[in-house]
Amino acid sequence: MSALAPLREFVVDFARLLDTHPDEPRILEEGGALLRRLVARDDWLPDAYARPHPERYQQFLLHADSTERFSVVSFVWGPGQATPVHDHTVWGLIGMLRGAEYSQAYRERHGELRPEGEPSWLAPGDVQAVSPRIGDVHRVHNACDDRVSISIHVYGANIGAVRRHTYPAGGGRKPFVSGYSNTQLPNLWDRSAELHHP
Ligand SMILES: [Fe+2]
Repeated sequence: MSALAPLREFVVDFARLLDTHPDEPRILEEGGALLRRLVARDDWLPDAYARPHPERYQQFLLHADSTERFSVVSFVWGPGQATPVHDHTVWGLIGMLRGAEYSQAYRERHGELRPEGEPSWLAPGDVQAVSPRIGDVHRVHNACDDRVSISIHVYGANIGAVRRHTYPAGGGRKPFVSGYSNTQLPNLWDRSAELHHP
């Protein structure tokens, strides 16, 4: 079995789940269980998709569904790195693989965006969901000052090409398309080793 088999099995299982046309609560529940299984082990993410950048967090596309129903991304956070406050506009699942991160939710009240509750702490194996239905705006940062943290995210679209927004501290919102940090994808589909060693 190749090192990438857990990721391949995850994307196959996720596509099969979406083939049943589930509503969003079922995607978040059953897809969240699939993601929890994927991040329960930390032995499959290739180093090329786990490397931090000294200045900014990295978002490496690991897989995009052929009809863009979902995408899988590794987020790599150097010490102290953070996102701006941002939205997603589609459902998303965040699974913690390595290190730890804080996610602070924001909600608009009386025309002003304010932090909602305490930030949630994500430890390896934890899974969290976002969506316009359940709360879509947050800011995420590496909870570790001295090491890299990595989370695996799944979104209900090709997230790097979705028009969304950041929310600057002074108010209002800015259009934002995230793109990806990589130009090449991991090869999930070379299954020849299984044929050589049945
Ligand atoms: Fe996010």
